[in-house]
Amino acid sequence: VPVEPFDIVVFGATGDLALRKLIPALFHRWCDGQISDDSRIVCASRDSMESSAFQELAATHVITAKTTSERKTSWAEFAARLTYVSVDADSESAGWTDLAAALDPDESKIRLYYLALPPSIYGSICAGLAAHKLNTPNARIVLEKPIGSNYHTARAINDKVGEVFRENNIFRIDHYLGKETVQNLLILRFANYLFEPIWNANGIDHVQITVAESLGAGKRASYYDRSGALRDMVQNHLLQLACLVAMEPPASLDPDAVRTEKLKVLKALRPITAANVSQDVVRGQYQSGAVDGETVPGYAEEVGHASQTETFVGVRAHVDNWRWAGVPFYLRTGKRMAARRSEIIVQFKPIPHDVVGATEGAMRPNRLVIRLQPDEGVKLMLMTKDPGPGGLRLRYVPLNLAYAEHFDHDYPDAYERLLMAVVRGNLSLFMRRDEVEAAWRWVDGIIQSWEDSQSKLYGYQAGTDGPTQSALLLAREEREWFDGL
Ligand code: BG6
Repeated sequence: VPVEPFDIVVFGATGDLALRKLIPALFHRWCDGQISDDSRIVCASRDSMESSAFQELAATHVITAKTTSERKTSWAEFAARLTYVSVDADSESAGWTDLAAALDPDESKIRLYYLALPPSIYGSICAGLAAHKLNTPNARIVLEKPIGSNYHTARAINDKVGEVFRENNIFRIDHYLGKETVQNLLILRFANYLFEPIWNANGIDHVQITVAESLGAGKRASYYDRSGALRDMVQNHLLQLACLVAMEPPASLDPDAVRTEKLKVLKALRPITAANVSQDVVRGQYQSGAVDGETVPGYAEEVGHASQTETFVGVRAHVDNWRWAGVPFYLRTGKRMAARRSEIIVQFKPIPHDVVGATEGAMRPNRLVIRLQPDEGVKLMLMTKDPGPGGLRLRYVPLNLAYAEHFDHDYPDAYERLLMAVVRGNLSLFMRRDEVEAAWRWVDGIIQSWEDSQSKLYGYQAGTDGPTQSALLLAREEREWFDGL
């Protein structure tokens, strides 16, 4: 369905995110007829270059070996629509006037200002937009994560942006909320009767959330080395996933109804302190090893110096409310792990009484496996009788909903979906100010505790599931990490 005509300015257009994700997302939505020809795409950054040079640069990222010949032909037409302007946020450069000239003079048109920039510049860009009267009535600002590097910096950024844009025009991206399978979490929970009555401490033993990547810090090492896995992944993606699993049913999918319920989860997270951090959190850093059959260097070697930055975090978290009393949420994420795999596993309670008299270990509790990527799908593990003669033998088998088998269409990338959601003004897929700040408060507690207790950084070999200490988080409670099945 086409969206209303809009103008978008991508700040940081020569950066990795814009070139790898945003320009391709706009291109694909345009190819599919969702973006009309009276929309304008303006690409801005500090570098000075002609639009034609930018178009060539963008082509090297959009056109890959996998691009169909049809899309290659469309690219030429799309690329011609990309206007480049050079703007320096920190100076009174002529760029701002060029930017204004590149936009539709119709002040009632929807405008998106996408800040694919380090958060330290968000304030000055907003001030520049205001000074040049570019914050028109229908202007929306899109902020990439991380919003700050702790609670205080996040607040300062939110204050600065808030001086220019109203909260309802601020779209804070967490691209995980744009993933098809993540959106399905709400549907799975609230459009089925089956789960909700047992979706609590009576029915659920524990929850595991894993976001594993096989890639290393790569080209983003200079950002990543200042950030680490806790700030880069847990503060946003993993906590958002935990919120969607743990939240109370909202009255509707109205953005504030959903976001208020997520906020309550974040506020109910039990603080991690120096007293419990070594029991509840494991931090690790990858060392050289083999990933996908290829030998890769360790993190320190990649960044070129010894570093205390974690590339793996495992956390045993608790949501201290009635629904989740005593149910641990185990979260883990890491780079250079065995495989790229993101999933949520909900382990239900064991049955109260075994009428079968199964041999030890044969009876296993139900498990819901929500595979976010790759091989998207949902599996519900059930006990079943092994068919055939020869007595009553039990099998643990999946009811299996593999997206690839059931749905025959390609679904758009998260950024494609989120950009269109901004144009439509659908805030429910974006983080509200108080959510971001509450997530930082909890994460700040972990960072402070690491400092106070001089917590250890464990090495792990690239291509593995992280440091062996991560298994202990669960083993202490006689549990283990599951992978998929
Ligand atoms: C980003 C992080 O937000 O998410 C990256 O900054 C990470 O470090 C990426 O690689 C993972 O996203 P995806 O969609 O590939 O799972």
